[in-house]
Amino acid sequence: MDDTSIQAIEISLFLEALYQRHGYDFRNYAKASIKRRVLTLAAIHGQTVADLIPRILHDDGFVTEAIAQLSVPVSEMFRDPIVFKTLRETILPLLQTYPRINIWQAGCATGEEIYSLAIILEEEGLLERAQIYATDINDIALRKAEDGIFPVRYLPEYERNYKNAGGKTKLSDYYVANTEFMRLHERLRRKIVFAHHNLVSDGVFCEVQLILCRNVLIYFNNDLQKKVLELFHKSLVRHGFLCLGTRESKRAVEERQLFAAINRNCMIFQKKGGEL
Ligand SMILES: C[S@@+](CC[C@H](N)C(=O)[O-])C[C@H]1O[C@@H](n2cnc3c(N)ncnc32)[C@H](O)[C@@H]1O
Repeated sequence: MDDTSIQAIEISLFLEALYQRHGYDFRNYAKASIKRRVLTLAAIHGQTVADLIPRILHDDGFVTEAIAQLSVPVSEMFRDPIVFKTLRETILPLLQTYPRINIWQAGCATGEEIYSLAIILEEEGLLERAQIYATDINDIALRKAEDGIFPVRYLPEYERNYKNAGGKTKLSDYYVANTEFMRLHERLRRKIVFAHHNLVSDGVFCEVQLILCRNVLIYFNNDLQKKVLELFHKSLVRHGFLCLGTRESKRAVEERQLFAAINRNCMIFQKKGGEL
């Protein structure tokens, strides 16, 4: 057996140990990317993958760090501005009819995206009626998201994205900043509940009109994607909307016949069943 095959066994034993000991199930994540991330975790600690197995079994402090490393908590404000513009112009008007609007963002990472949505909701006069739940498995990212504090070095890009997303005022109306950091306003933060939820192992989180889950399913294999799409289907009200990432597989969404495409380029779908 060559070194690569042995390494593959070590990775699979490590993921099994993580699952059996702590309940985090990465066994059905896309193979190439989970392999890369396990190897990075080992490299950061100057250890082999085999060395990580006893650590994950016996060192309780290690699991949070391992999860932080295995998940990919990268985000930005108004990423793919056209998607936010489409949500603003096409989906939010349809949500106007609800007295209370529940929104779930699954895989919120450090929160940039959910604050972007909160800004759009405010500009469309819907924020007061909205209750937003933002969830992730990465507790370190969740804490950052809750703080709503981001480095100002990304601001020029965020400003551009905001304008291209149909921004109605100035992004600076939504934060205070010093030379290093910006902090989103409390009026946005208080509408968002950040919580731990694992898409692989946890059930329906709440019943919502809109689910945003962008750039998360790309890390899952086909079977896991299907399972999570079923969870989303169950979590949506009749005719509820699902917005996935633009790099995600359209086929995985469409082959199950659970959702109809509203805008395929923006990966916005509607739960099937009856007329609007
Ligand atoms: C690339 S980030 C996407 C962030 C944001 N949605 C965006 O597109 O800007 C992927 C996030 O999915 C989260 N994630 C991965 N597996 C998950 C799972 N099983 N349940 C919930 N979140 C998960 C990761 O922790 C990470 O924060």
